[in-house]
Amino acid sequence: MKREKSEALAKAVYSKGVLYEWKRLVKDPFHRLEFETTLHFLTKHLPRKGLILDAGGGPGRYSIELAKRGYDVVLFDITAENLAFAQKEIERQGVSKKVKYIVQGSIVDLSNFKSNTFDAVLCLGGALSHVSTPQNRARAVSELIRVARKGAPIAVSVMGRLGVLMNAIRYWPEELRVTSNTERILRKGDDHMWHHKYYAHFFYAKELKELFARKKLKLLDLTGLEGLSTPYKEEANTLFKKDKAGWKNWIKVHYQVCTHPAVVDTSAHMLIITRKI
Ligand SMILES: C[S@@+](CC[C@H](N)C(=O)[O-])C[C@H]1O[C@@H](n2cnc3c(N)ncnc32)[C@H](O)[C@@H]1O
Repeated sequence: MKREKSEALAKAVYSKGVLYEWKRLVKDPFHRLEFETTLHFLTKHLPRKGLILDAGGGPGRYSIELAKRGYDVVLFDITAENLAFAQKEIERQGVSKKVKYIVQGSIVDLSNFKSNTFDAVLCLGGALSHVSTPQNRARAVSELIRVARKGAPIAVSVMGRLGVLMNAIRYWPEELRVTSNTERILRKGDDHMWHHKYYAHFFYAKELKELFARKKLKLLDLTGLEGLSTPYKEEANTLFKKDKAGWKNWIKVHYQVCTHPAVVDTSAHMLIITRKI
C-alpha cells in the first residue's frame, strides 16, 4: 500500500478516536501494563533531564507524564484532532511550559527538526505499525535516529504479529475468516484493512531487532509490554479486582519474564530501546 493511502487511513481512524486513544493506556489494569511497563523501561534509560521528542504521541499521554517528570517535550503526530485535544489537556494539567512545541507530520519525514536535536526520541504505541512498506518503516527509523543526539535513547513500540493472531481467535475472529488476510498477516505481517479500517503492520521481534541493527545504535532492551497477560485481558482485570496479593505477584512475574524472547514475540505490543552511539 502507498504511503499516502496508509497515512490517510490512519488519520481518518485516529481523528475519530481521540478520546478512545486518550483513555486507552489507563482504562483498566490490563491496558496499564503497556503504559507502566513502557514507563518502567523509560525510567531505566532516559537521561535525568533534557528535550524529548514524542513522535506519534497522539493525544499526549506520554508527553504529559514526562512533562510532569520535569522533561521538556515536543509532541508530534500525524492527526490534527489528536494534537488539538493534547493542547487543551496540556493546558488543563498545567504543563504548557514544559511542552515546547506541538507539531503535525509523519514520522517518515521529520524534516521539521534538525539533526542531533533531542536527548531522547520516543515513538510509542504503534505509530510505526501504521507505516506501510519496509522501505518507509526503515526511513522512519532513520529519521528517528537522525534527530536524536549522540548518546540519546530511542524507544519505539509496535504491535506484535503473534500477539495479534493469538488475540484474533478470541476478539476478532472475523479477521481470520478470509484466508488471504490471515496468510498476509502471518507471512508479511501486513493487514491492509485492520478492523476494516486501516493499514497495520505486525512485527516479529526478530524483524524489529533487525530494523534497529545499525552501526549508529546499541541495543539496550527489547521487551514485551503486556507480556504473559496478552491473551488474558479479562483474567488480568479480574485478578486485579479480586485478589490484590495475586496481582502483586503476577506483576513481579511480569517484570521477570517480559524480556524473555518467547514473551517478547507473543506480546500484543513490544518495545525496543536503543542508544545512538
Ligand atoms: C495507538 S496511537 C498511540 C498514541 C500514543 N503514542 C500512545 O501510546 O498513547 C498511534 C498514533 O500514531 C499516529 N500515527 C499514525 N501514523 C503516523 C505517522 N505516519 N506519523 C506520525 N504519527 C502517526 C496516530 O495519529 C496515533 O496518534
